[in-house]
Amino acid sequence: MNSLLIKNGTVVTATDKYQADVLVEGETVSMIGAQLDVSADREIDASGCYLFPGGIDAHTHMELPFMGTHASDTFETGTLAGLHGGTTTIIDFAIQTQGESLEAALESWHKKADGHAVGDYAFHCAVTDFNDDTRKEIPHIINEHGINSFKVFMAYKGFLMVDDRQMYELMEELVKHGGILTTHCENGDMIDRNIQKNLEAGNTSPKYHVLSRPAGCEAEAAGRAIDLAHQTGCSLYIVHTTCEESLNRVKIATMRNQKVHVETCIQYLLLDESEYFKDGFEGAKVVMSPPLRKKKDQEALWAAIQQNLIQHVATDHCPFCMDQKAMGKDDFSKIPNGGPGIENRFELLYSEGVTKGRIGLNKFVEMTSTGAAKIFGLFPRKGTIAVGSDADIVIFDPETKHTISAETHHMNVDYNLYEGWQVQGKARTTILRGTVAIDEGQAFVGEGFGKYLKRPPFDPRY
Ligand code: URP
Ligand code: ZN
Ligand code: ZN
Repeated sequence: MNSLLIKNGTVVTATDKYQADVLVEGETVSMIGAQLDVSADREIDASGCYLFPGGIDAHTHMELPFMGTHASDTFETGTLAGLHGGTTTIIDFAIQTQGESLEAALESWHKKADGHAVGDYAFHCAVTDFNDDTRKEIPHIINEHGINSFKVFMAYKGFLMVDDRQMYELMEELVKHGGILTTHCENGDMIDRNIQKNLEAGNTSPKYHVLSRPAGCEAEAAGRAIDLAHQTGCSLYIVHTTCEESLNRVKIATMRNQKVHVETCIQYLLLDESEYFKDGFEGAKVVMSPPLRKKKDQEALWAAIQQNLIQHVATDHCPFCMDQKAMGKDDFSKIPNGGPGIENRFELLYSEGVTKGRIGLNKFVEMTSTGAAKIFGLFPRKGTIAVGSDADIVIFDPETKHTISAETHHMNVDYNLYEGWQVQGKARTTILRGTVAIDEGQAFVGEGFGKYLKRPPFDPRY
């Protein structure tokens, strides 16, 4: 069994910070202590660096077939880019095609990921067509596939959206079998009407994307999902939350003792709606759903992190190259929705969050790793640095500065949402299950290194 000794680093978890050496034997952490007097096959000096648990991004869409095209990162390129940025595990959405089974969706996603992903991966199961047949599949998916999280889209009318009856019945089923529902909250009917009105008025440019999808339309759907979850007793996780109004619905729910899990994404913390109003077709780069919001919403999201209302900062990584975005040159509603982020999330949250004094180190770890691991049943295998945990460790140099650019990133997409941003702090070495995957920008693992992660039924105590 290979061993690796990481010396002189500062271990940071969601609760602790201390100087220690970490011994890894095989794929797991076997010893942590001050100046360990042990030998190992390989030693790495981490002086001046933090040792963070490998990042978990619980919201990605590798190779997603969407709006007439496919997300441009494969499981290979996307997870490798994640490793470059300190993300060692993703949870991607296996999305049912309406008229087909959940099993078929999982088979299709396994085909894309198995033997290809470089980083570790799990799946959420997205239900787009809940009926008596899909209902029967739920226990098998939870117990045999090891998937405890399901997803519904309350938007994308006509291809992904479910109605309230379907969502309500799915919730009932998840309560019975140990699942948590994750929801894309936007009112698809309102959006459909707004798009129609804009196109009829000749409003075709990217800015009409945000103008068709106001914050109230997200908050209405969030409130509805929260109410149905309360009625059924189903555990709920709201994905990609963007705005103050949605957070207020969550706060109200806490007043009746309801727990709602909330995710936001790095772009909603750092970018705002002014991006849609840039010249030409630039705004297409940020056409994603829900859209970017106002500065006051960013402030509300940062505050919600501090208030423990948000448990995870993900990416919703769903990149499309500019020639794909151009499908909507004359009609904003045809611009494939989504943007890249998996490679930059970790360093951006550190740079904009920790170095700018918005969050502390433990909160950083909770948001990038531990929170998602606990909710989705990966903890303590993932999400922490502890004896017995997978040795997914990021040796992070807090002093290194660099400039983000599509010229140098590893994501398979021809632009970066943060082009030209200066960041302080960088993943120097990313270790996945005891193997040095990335060191100083060089990859030492390749296609197929990633493992599929089965997860136990949902534990509502988290
Ligand atoms: O615009 C987005 N977010 N695209 C990916 C699909 C989704 O809604 O998460
Ligand atoms: Zn979504
Ligand atoms: Zn998504």
